[in-house]
Amino acid sequence: MTNTKGRLYGIGVGPGDPELLTLKAFRLLKSASVVAYQSADNHPSVARSIVASYLTDDQIEVPFHFPRALDPHEAKPLYDRAIVPIAEHLAAGHDVVVLCEGDPLFYGSFMYLFTRFADQYHTEVVPGVSSPMACASAIGIPISYRNDIFSVLPATLSADVLATQLVNADAAAIIKLRRHFSKVREVLRSLGLSSRARYIERATMAEQRIISLDEVEADRVPYFSMILLPTKVQL
Ligand SMILES: C[S@@+](CC[C@H](N)C(=O)[O-])C[C@H]1O[C@@H](n2cnc3c(N)ncnc32)[C@H](O)[C@@H]1O
Repeated sequence: MTNTKGRLYGIGVGPGDPELLTLKAFRLLKSASVVAYQSADNHPSVARSIVASYLTDDQIEVPFHFPRALDPHEAKPLYDRAIVPIAEHLAAGHDVVVLCEGDPLFYGSFMYLFTRFADQYHTEVVPGVSSPMACASAIGIPISYRNDIFSVLPATLSADVLATQLVNADAAAIIKLRRHFSKVREVLRSLGLSSRARYIERATMAEQRIISLDEVEADRVPYFSMILLPTKVQL
């Protein structure tokens, strides 16, 4: 029996530099007839902008939107509705490539598609260069070494939890800073860690910025930013 169902591909497009795509992601993107990506009304898709120069006019583009910061029970019906256009393409037998900034399954919204489609359709994930790795390369300081414990901490955690986790980590990436930046900076200062930490904004994008924590204007911290706390091991 011929399987006429479409296949779903979540491809990591990396942190910003269009050259940081894997060959596999590039091949799938070039051969895709349907390309989907997250896009809110007033926020153009960063994942799409990364690969814009590789897209062609004959590709069908399918923007979709998962609203942020909702209670999971409230979010479920909205997310179910958001994926309807993708479901229609898959049911019609079209392969769909979903563009994911960084890596699809590292704090990525592709997981909402994966959990909804993987048992019905052939679903494949193509890993991407993730932002902590891009930021580590940008600052050019080894992040973790030998037996170091490297922690990834969302800045949305409380100051107490952040402090406990940072005390137990040898190195860390603190992501999702935006309006939580001041809280994180205070925690790092209180632990005597702020001089070792680096702030990186829009790593590998044309507007990349690397500055010390003291230089950051807390009310201008963009979504694509993180603080890296590199290893304390002196090499
Ligand atoms: C929802 S997570 C998605 C991570 C993404 N899937 C990855 O693999 O990097 C978004 C957070 O990742 C970090 N981030 C993603 N891309 C970045 C970049 N180019 N420069 C700095 N931070 C970035 C920011 O902290 C941002 O708030």
